[in-house]
Amino acid sequence: MYDLIVLGGGPAGYNAAERAAHAGMKTLLFEGKALGGVCLNEGCVPTKTLLYSAKIYDYTKHGEAYGVTCTGSSIDHAFVVGRKDKVVGTLVSGVSGRLKKAGVEVVPAFGTITGRGSDGFAVTANGREYKASKLLICTGSYAFVPPVPGLRESIESGFAMTNREILDMRTLPRSLVVIGGGVIGLEMASYFNSVGVKVTVVEMLDHIAGPTDGEISKILLRSYQKKGVEFILGANVTAVGNGTVTFEKDGKTESVPADKVLVSIGRRANTAGIGLESIGVEVERGAVVTDEYCQTSVPGVYAAGDVNGKSMLAHTAYREGEAALANMLGGHERVNYLSIPSVIYTNPEVACVGETSESVKAKGLDAVSTSVTLKYSGRYIAENEGGDGIVKLVVDKTHKTLLGVHMIGSYASEIIYGAAMMVEKQMRTDDVKKLVFPHPTVCEVIREAMFMI
Ligand code: NAI
Repeated sequence: MYDLIVLGGGPAGYNAAERAAHAGMKTLLFEGKALGGVCLNEGCVPTKTLLYSAKIYDYTKHGEAYGVTCTGSSIDHAFVVGRKDKVVGTLVSGVSGRLKKAGVEVVPAFGTITGRGSDGFAVTANGREYKASKLLICTGSYAFVPPVPGLRESIESGFAMTNREILDMRTLPRSLVVIGGGVIGLEMASYFNSVGVKVTVVEMLDHIAGPTDGEISKILLRSYQKKGVEFILGANVTAVGNGTVTFEKDGKTESVPADKVLVSIGRRANTAGIGLESIGVEVERGAVVTDEYCQTSVPGVYAAGDVNGKSMLAHTAYREGEAALANMLGGHERVNYLSIPSVIYTNPEVACVGETSESVKAKGLDAVSTSVTLKYSGRYIAENEGGDGIVKLVVDKTHKTLLGVHMIGSYASEIIYGAAMMVEKQMRTDDVKKLVFPHPTVCEVIREAMFMI
């Protein structure tokens, strides 16, 4: 009998399991694939490894503006993928070591919930039954493959890929068509464009980067068009196969040739086949329903991470897992989704937290916003010839409380946590003005922007 059974060893599950064991709970974790989940094995970490190699390669190609000439540089894609495997291996064994040290028991199998008795919830794997008084569901998500004619067959033949297969592709295609200009599509477009592949992004909406602030989305689009990425916006893909992607745009059917295709049009929660129905956990549109305390419809059963379909970010998963654990232990912790930052690791980077100009309008909030060029930063100018990055603030009109901060430009991914704290703590512009930021840095433009709104 365990105090807690965790289903899924991704960021939500492994982190919560480790912390639960530290809190004294007898904890069992089921992971049927690889510890670390999508984030470590086929998502965040592998992508960042590839993008870092691309960044170094970009420096060698574009050093002239900084007085650096580098001739004969090249990138070895197979080596980059090999290094990615090494980085992933290091981190996965790190997770395994941490769980072991904490005393978490790990079962390397998919667990299925089979019911609830007076002695707790039952989970089975490989013909054996395990019981616990609390359950934490962290089964993650999978890449959505829409029912587009030819797409499934194309994935089977290797012509089309999801985020998983593309990270293991060892030879570079001449051209790549990316279906979906969201986070995965843009990060992959960034890498393959940098390493010399002809990239075309086909996106259904009239803009890229989904709910990202409109002004920032436009700057990113412009920057990628300048680098040679082609964007076909407002296009709905209707067929994939025979070396082409066919789409409808403005009532016309057109097609674009491709060596390879990446499908990145969103993810869906993994809720099928884990036995949720055996204990009556409510599922809506394929995702486990949770409240802001990460509690499901069944007392004693919590869910964290992509499986609840709320924010699908690894750092949200960590926080949800921790909140769920605190609440199992009698706490009353909520997850504040509004102050969770998000990052797109393109070059330039995009990082955002809180409300956008568009979202405040939609919610009818009385807010004002201002965009400030990153050229207010000496460091930005020194390091970014021709850079057009910005910081944008969204502020409550009456109280001058910070509602959102959005950035495009260097270091944005590392800076945004500070802005997230300001939003979380509902700081006012006058509060931030009184803080001292280091100089010369790019982040000091956030402070400067407080004087302009
Ligand atoms: P996404 O939701 O970010 O973007 C999907 C895009 O595909 C949207 O722009 C949508 O309009 C478009 N689309 C949908 N159907 C289409 C069609 N038939 N034809 C053309 N375009 C179509 O999904 P994505 O990029 O697959 O990422 C999945 C999840 O992974 C996201 O929730 C994201 O937050 C997470 N993720 C986060 C990362 C990060 O934090 N840096 C990195 C990678 C993934």
